[in-house]
Amino acid sequence: MVSNILSIYDLLLNLVFILLITLIVAFITYLYNEYKVRQLLPPGPLGIPLMGYQPFFGKDLHKVVTKLGEKYGSVFTIQMGFKNIVVLNDWEAIKEGLHNDALLGRPKTVLFTVGNTNSSASSPHNWQDTRRFSLQVLRDLGFGKGSMENRITDEIRILIKHVDEANGRRFNIHKCLTPSISNNICHLVFGHRFDYNDPKRVAFDLMLETISKKSIITTAFLSAAPLWLTKRMYSTGAINSRKVFETVAGVIRSEISSHKKSMNPNNKFRDYIDGYLAEMEVRQRKDPNTHFTPQKLAEMVRILFGAGSNAVQDSIEWLLLLCVRYSEHQKRIHEEIDSVVGRDRSPCYADRLHMPFTQAFINESFRYKTKLPFNFMRW
Ligand SMILES: *[C@@H]1O[C@H](CO)[C@@H](O)[C@H](O)[C@H]1NC(C)=O
Ligand SMILES: *[C@@H]1O[C@H](CO)[C@@H](O)[C@H](O)[C@H]1NC(C)=O
Repeated sequence: MVSNILSIYDLLLNLVFILLITLIVAFITYLYNEYKVRQLLPPGPLGIPLMGYQPFFGKDLHKVVTKLGEKYGSVFTIQMGFKNIVVLNDWEAIKEGLHNDALLGRPKTVLFTVGNTNSSASSPHNWQDTRRFSLQVLRDLGFGKGSMENRITDEIRILIKHVDEANGRRFNIHKCLTPSISNNICHLVFGHRFDYNDPKRVAFDLMLETISKKSIITTAFLSAAPLWLTKRMYSTGAINSRKVFETVAGVIRSEISSHKKSMNPNNKFRDYIDGYLAEMEVRQRKDPNTHFTPQKLAEMVRILFGAGSNAVQDSIEWLLLLCVRYSEHQKRIHEEIDSVVGRDRSPCYADRLHMPFTQAFINESFRYKTKLPFNFMRW
């Protein structure tokens, strides 16, 4: 009896021992592999095994990265979680990087897959193809042209009406800037704007709010965490509000299906969705495995929508804040507007050529407050 217990005890001890040895060997193998990989990559700080440099990020990731750049040069490696990330830290390096086709792919990270579990990482080729096609469609729709300017001016008129309604009382401009700015993209993507209190508009605004609240660190973490983990966090609601994203995914799906029904292939595209659907049909006829798919369309709509909204809004809110902080500059801007534009018409883009002070103020705000100090990953 006693010897039986002893031998079970022995067995357990042996198992623990074997487990321990296995773990140690695995850990050493991991360190050795990591070391070999790092030998091939640009220099950089080592960080903590398994976690990488993440614990040292602090609040302002871009400042940490700038400091590392002083030590390691303009191209260096940091480890985030299990991933090694090469940082391009100056204009020359970024320009060279973005001219390299091999670096144009997007990783399969949560930013591009949330709410779209079917999404795949986009290969550099597919990404470039989609980008080229999308720019062409957007240009055909007037992106960057006079017709777009007129729409923006109309949308601004509606914004001003809302501001006037406050009647000099305090109000939160953020609440009407979100739908106002985002409606410009809606015109291009969906072919129409949404009223500020349209439930679809409200769902979009809620999503934009959720995205913009996420700090750059969370974004960096999400880009680096393994996909299974981010998906898990997403499905348990630990990141983002899943419901918000799902509502928006539903709205996008319903927009796409109503476009499918109402679109006339003989007419000009009304918007990006029309353009994509037409191209998808052509491509699918040639190649059933084309990367032009309904899922990809939904993803592109979400990307265009997100990218076209938050960045502009952040810039405008910073400009407003800086105008308040530097009221002497605000006064000069006001004078310039009065003398160049006057009070009888809306401003237009061409006016900028006669408004050096306002332009300099805007330019300086971009230098002073970088909107995206840390860009999303590519591979
Ligand atoms: C994912 O793909 C499957 C099969 O292709 C499809 O049935 C499903 O609806 C897709 N899910 C989403 C969220 O697009
Ligand atoms: C502001 O930046 C724009 C775009 O880079 C440039 O064309 C313009 O000359 C700049 N204006 C001033 C006053 O700095």
